[in-house]
Amino acid sequence: MPLFEWKKEHSVGVYEMDRHHQKLFDILNRLHDAMKDGKGMQIIAGIVRELLDYTRYHFGEEEKLLEKIGYSGISEQKMAHQKFISQIEGYKDQADKGMTAFLSSGVSTLLTDWLRNHIGVMDKRYQSAMNAHGVK
Ligand SMILES: [Fe+2]
Repeated sequence: MPLFEWKKEHSVGVYEMDRHHQKLFDILNRLHDAMKDGKGMQIIAGIVRELLDYTRYHFGEEEKLLEKIGYSGISEQKMAHQKFISQIEGYKDQADKGMTAFLSSGVSTLLTDWLRNHIGVMDKRYQSAMNAHGVK
């Protein structure tokens, strides 16, 4: 059973965004499985690249929807997204330099916190505004 299982309580009320968030849960679970098997260092560079590519895509799509509905909290969202991307870019720099020793736990902590506090709090706040504009 995956460590971080996506459940209904994680829903932000928008189908497409829930699917994107499930992909982030999947990336974190794969990282955890590898760490459990002592293979964190072997896969972390690939995970960081995948995470950076996927979050850039996901944030772009999320921001497009928020813009479309004229969401009042969009600048707060964009700032949080940019900060997260910068942190992942920092990890990617380390991975590119072969500094993989503590990367897995750093990335795991960052992503766990993101799922809990960004998706679980800030993203959930857009549900009613999205739904009111027919975005579900
Ligand atoms: Fe967000």
